[in-house]
Amino acid sequence: MNSLSFYSVGSFILVVLVLIAVISIVYRSWRNGISPMPSSAVVRRAVLSELRRIPLPGLIVEAGSGWGTLALQLATYNKAWRIVGIENSWIPLWVSKLSASLKRTAADLDFQHGDIYQYQYDQADVVICYLYPGAMTRLSTIMRVQLKPGAYLISVCFAMPGWEPERVVTCGDLYRTKLYIYRVKE
Ligand SMILES: C[S@@+](CC[C@H](N)C(=O)[O-])C[C@H]1O[C@@H](n2cnc3c(N)ncnc32)[C@H](O)[C@@H]1O
Repeated sequence: MNSLSFYSVGSFILVVLVLIAVISIVYRSWRNGISPMPSSAVVRRAVLSELRRIPLPGLIVEAGSGWGTLALQLATYNKAWRIVGIENSWIPLWVSKLSASLKRTAADLDFQHGDIYQYQYDQADVVICYLYPGAMTRLSTIMRVQLKPGAYLISVCFAMPGWEPERVVTCGDLYRTKLYIYRVKE
């Protein structure tokens, strides 16, 4: 094979792989009702400062961890935290796993393939999510049954229907994104 056809075959394979990745992300976003759009740096900082107010959270679960940017940032902060990201879109999940393997983090960080509606949240001290209204309605029932007394739920952008937030924080970003912080009664 001469070098020209070697490069053509290489480019063709690359284009096919990129196409498969794009189709996978678009298909999963369509099924999920939301894309893996990451929360902004301002919002990530606000989530971190809310977590720091919570007395020693042990297990932090991010329901829908996308590309892993939020969990990775949180994981640099406290080595006592254990952070689990749940994601069902393969490409963002692989990127987050790869980033976690390359980045030195203080906390124990694990990205898992899974469905946020099937995951068992009963061990979680804090659940973090950035989803959409329909997902919040579904999670509302699940969290009511599964979250232990004293556990926290931090939702970026969308309120949990029927739940009374302990705090609502308005972030300093362009969209004035709100964080809803809930605590399960003890
Ligand atoms: C808007 S993104 C937020 C990503 C990340 N939490 C952040 O703040 O940067 C929502 C993520 O939830 C994931 N997601 C939605 N429904 C899901 C489901 N049923 N199971 C697992 N992940 C889901 C999407 O694939 C997407 O990556």
